[in-house]
Amino acid sequence: MATTRPSGRQFPTDFLWGSATASYQIEGGVHEGGRGPSIWDTFSHTPGRVLNGDTGDVAVDHFHRVPQDVAIMRELGLQAYRFSIAWSRVQPTGSGEFNQAGLDFYSDLVDRLVDAGIQPVATLYHWDLPQALEDEGGWANRQTAYRFADYARRMAEVLGDRVRLWTTLNEPWCSAFLGYASGAHAPGVTDDAKALAAVHHLNLGHGLAARAVRSVLGEGTPVSVTLNLHVTRAASDDPADVAAKHRIDTIANEVFLGPMLLGAYPEQVFADTAAISDWAFVQDGDLELIRVPLTLLGVNYYATGLVRAGAPAAVTPGEPGPDGHRAAEHSPWVGADQVEWLPVAGPYTAMGWNIEPQGLVDLLLELRDRFPDQPLAITENGAAFADEVSADGRVHDADRVAYLHDHIDAMGAAMDAGADVRGYFVWSLLDNFEWAYGFDRRFGVVRVDYDTLERTVKDSGRWYAELVRTGTVPPAEVAATL
Ligand code: FCB
Repeated sequence: MATTRPSGRQFPTDFLWGSATASYQIEGGVHEGGRGPSIWDTFSHTPGRVLNGDTGDVAVDHFHRVPQDVAIMRELGLQAYRFSIAWSRVQPTGSGEFNQAGLDFYSDLVDRLVDAGIQPVATLYHWDLPQALEDEGGWANRQTAYRFADYARRMAEVLGDRVRLWTTLNEPWCSAFLGYASGAHAPGVTDDAKALAAVHHLNLGHGLAARAVRSVLGEGTPVSVTLNLHVTRAASDDPADVAAKHRIDTIANEVFLGPMLLGAYPEQVFADTAAISDWAFVQDGDLELIRVPLTLLGVNYYATGLVRAGAPAAVTPGEPGPDGHRAAEHSPWVGADQVEWLPVAGPYTAMGWNIEPQGLVDLLLELRDRFPDQPLAITENGAAFADEVSADGRVHDADRVAYLHDHIDAMGAAMDAGADVRGYFVWSLLDNFEWAYGFDRRFGVVRVDYDTLERTVKDSGRWYAELVRTGTVPPAEVAATL
């Protein structure tokens, strides 16, 4: 795959360059240090749920390799590291007693990052809900939002002197709709009404947790949330197709942007989902709690989607669907059963996702127009490819280099046009457990050999390090020579 955009763009000197991971995808050590089970332990151990029966039991053994992994980041010159805290490692049942060994694990990680000159960016929830809370209804249960705030408060007390930015939730769309509607992700529930309740309780949890962190550390404490805003286009100007796109925008994006940034749900969602839910779970005062000033709005961007009006085509469960998500018997698109997802033109990554840097420009410019005073960060962007180790022992992942090159340039173009982007986090530091695809899809800029757990910096990692060092987008071709 060739690059499609120019090299050489310069970024501001105070722009923050980092990498991202998530607890269940890298840690392993699931029975160690007093950690309790999470919904991803249960799900991955349920036959048929994860490709090849893979689990995060060992993952990439980060639990035992923190010093080494931090050393790799230091070697790459990374300025920030976005990691997530496994709630059930620090509070095994999601309520009550905290687990000192778990708190110590993250405290040690954060200390090592600070010593290495890397800013710790902590995500409080990247999908691994304590199983004990799921047993009480999970995110479909309002109480989970309050438990989440209690946990957030404790983490602020323990890590608040060193964490530079707090993120409440990662991609609540996935938690709600892959978790409770399509069931392609943990907890694997297929109940549209519960998915909508989960949307609201995730929103509420976000607001309560942000307030809890700030109540401990002060009102000016940097807090963010990360959304996977879907960039979807209508197949034509036909009003029916435009309405189909609007329906997806509403259930994919606006149900989070609305409450979090504007203090209200979009009216359309009540109409679109009237047959499924009366939204009685939204209580008086909730919307005031959910809306908090965000220091940064985190944006994860990978690909785009294409829709038109009509009945959805049949999908093959287990395969990537035309919407980019792993297909299941049940659709994640609650209230959008008359929307058809069409295949998008390639090229594609190993996830079957189309490669379209312009989608990132479009998204950032839309956010600039709609929320001109809201600073942004790209909290995830990256690509899976079928990497190979060459005879020289290196991983010449030219496709990934090209992907990063073009998307980072695209981000810069949006910044030139006024998008207020403050940082970029490549997904991912390490190859890891890619959820329902297990270890089959590699996203790292550092390779992990799944037999020996040995780490090897890929060409993309070297190229990214050069970008961080110079603040300028290096030509993709240099990657193999660095
Ligand atoms: C995002 C997730 C992240 C990773 C990437 C590929 O949806 O936040 O954990 O799996 O996709």
